[in-house]
Amino acid sequence: MIDYKMSIAELLHPLVPSMTLEEIRNLVEHPKNTDMGDYAFPCFKLSKEMRQAPQVIAQTFVDQINLPDTLASVEAISGFLNFKVSTSHFAQNILEAVMAQKEYYGSSDVGEDKKTIIEYSSVNIAKPFHMGHIRSTMIGESLRRIYDFLGYDTVAINHLGDYGTQFGKLIVAFKLWGDRETIEKDPIPELLKIYVKFHQEAEENPELEDEARSWFTKLENNDPEAVELWTLFKEMSLKVFNRVYDKLGVTFDSYAGESFYSDKMQAILDELREKKIVQKSEGAEIVDLEPYGMPPALITKKDGSTLYMTRDLAAAKYRKDTYDFDKNIYVVGSAQKLHFQQWIKIVELMGHAWSKDCVHVEFGMVSLEEGSLSTRKGNVVFLEDVLDKAVEKTLEIINEKNPDLSDKASVAKSIGIGAVVFQELYTSRTKDYAFSLDKTLSFEGETGPYVQYTHARACSVLRKAEFDPLSDIEYGVLSDPASKEVVRILAKFNEIVVLAHKNYEPHTVARYAVDLAQAFNRFYHDNSILVEDKALRNARLALVYSSKIVLKNALHLVCLDAPEQM
Ligand code: ARG
Repeated sequence: MIDYKMSIAELLHPLVPSMTLEEIRNLVEHPKNTDMGDYAFPCFKLSKEMRQAPQVIAQTFVDQINLPDTLASVEAISGFLNFKVSTSHFAQNILEAVMAQKEYYGSSDVGEDKKTIIEYSSVNIAKPFHMGHIRSTMIGESLRRIYDFLGYDTVAINHLGDYGTQFGKLIVAFKLWGDRETIEKDPIPELLKIYVKFHQEAEENPELEDEARSWFTKLENNDPEAVELWTLFKEMSLKVFNRVYDKLGVTFDSYAGESFYSDKMQAILDELREKKIVQKSEGAEIVDLEPYGMPPALITKKDGSTLYMTRDLAAAKYRKDTYDFDKNIYVVGSAQKLHFQQWIKIVELMGHAWSKDCVHVEFGMVSLEEGSLSTRKGNVVFLEDVLDKAVEKTLEIINEKNPDLSDKASVAKSIGIGAVVFQELYTSRTKDYAFSLDKTLSFEGETGPYVQYTHARACSVLRKAEFDPLSDIEYGVLSDPASKEVVRILAKFNEIVVLAHKNYEPHTVARYAVDLAQAFNRFYHDNSILVEDKALRNARLALVYSSKIVLKNALHLVCLDAPEQM
């Protein structure tokens, strides 16, 4: 595939000796208004060294440039050099690349196999997997797919919240009020119920708290009964969580959660003490972070027990030792921003240069739009309930609109769950957003089903036409604005994916999928495809086929299936 930005950089390089080829290439952009051109080079930066106005520089360049076949025109407009590509060359170049590379189109090896840890979801044992968890879970899974696509060597970690004093409370509650059979039937709500009851009762009877503390100490000391109960809670919870992950198509390479580090804490404490980073404060140990504008970090409590913070320090060290990561990414809500700033600073104070490779990818909150869903237990909305509801509603829609569709159940699953996931990833991650099931399931507007529907529409055209991608294709006929726009968007796919990974922002890919779907639908609306004229028909089919491939690739990166019929 021709690298147009590079061709332009090569043209300009002799005229701009002060910049390297790569620097020039990086400046080449896509004009917002495509009537202006397909690529643009801004001359503003050169103004100082060349002591001329940008527009004058642009005009001088235009006079000196000899265009190659791949470019149709160059113009100087408001300080930019605006290039238009030659339609037939451009379409041929892009569509042939898509059709040859298929599911790999858009991928690359910029990642150079660099070890990249992505930690996401990290739900808490014995607690609801609620709607709020969708963010970390899906942003993380999407980033993992994007990083894989770009040739990184990724490790997906679920840092389960499976340790801490709350397990002492749960053990006490279970021993007092727990009924094994009831809990096994529907573990999470039942465990939540007795946990809530513990807190209510403890207000009247503070001795319960002491008992809970002593059970947690037992757990820390590997007391068989404590370990047995804790294991039971964990296994039951994971069974439920894995059911949700299956529905979402989310997988992990490791479930090493907080408990995994319980025997790795001593080493980190020794190191902190040896390097004199911790200091005693009223019996506890803290790291003073005032010089860095942060409150002190608590490392051990008065009773010697460790904390969430301590476990994160141990986990980061373990990951460095085990995986020797190039980057260690944490997809965790903005509420924990300070926590991450604190422990990453502590790693730096410990003298580990890799602290700069630990990245907190934060995100805003998700709330529920009024009336969107009623809650099942208390005011927690279980993610699984939302997914099931979405699938159920989708099936109703299919039964109404396309009752003869084969494999309805599986299509409904792809669309229903895809809709929820897409709405999640369509919002840029730092924004808060309100989830609405109705909006999500709309086949119109900027939704997952809309993109999936566009893909299925392309599949349907191709089924009817029996297109052969190896036939001779005259790309020059794709000269109408709608066709050109589709090709232009197809060409951008790799750039989009690279941008998404740089900013840890799956939203960029989701947005792209909608742009492509919209452009494709305009093309489909403006042009008849199965026309008599063989050359026209074939070229348009090549465009349909390429769009189908790229829609599917983009959907995959944002964790959606692409059903062929719906
Ligand atoms: N389990 C935690 C929570 O629900 C999130 C864990 C985030 N990851 C970490 N390494 N601290 O709040």
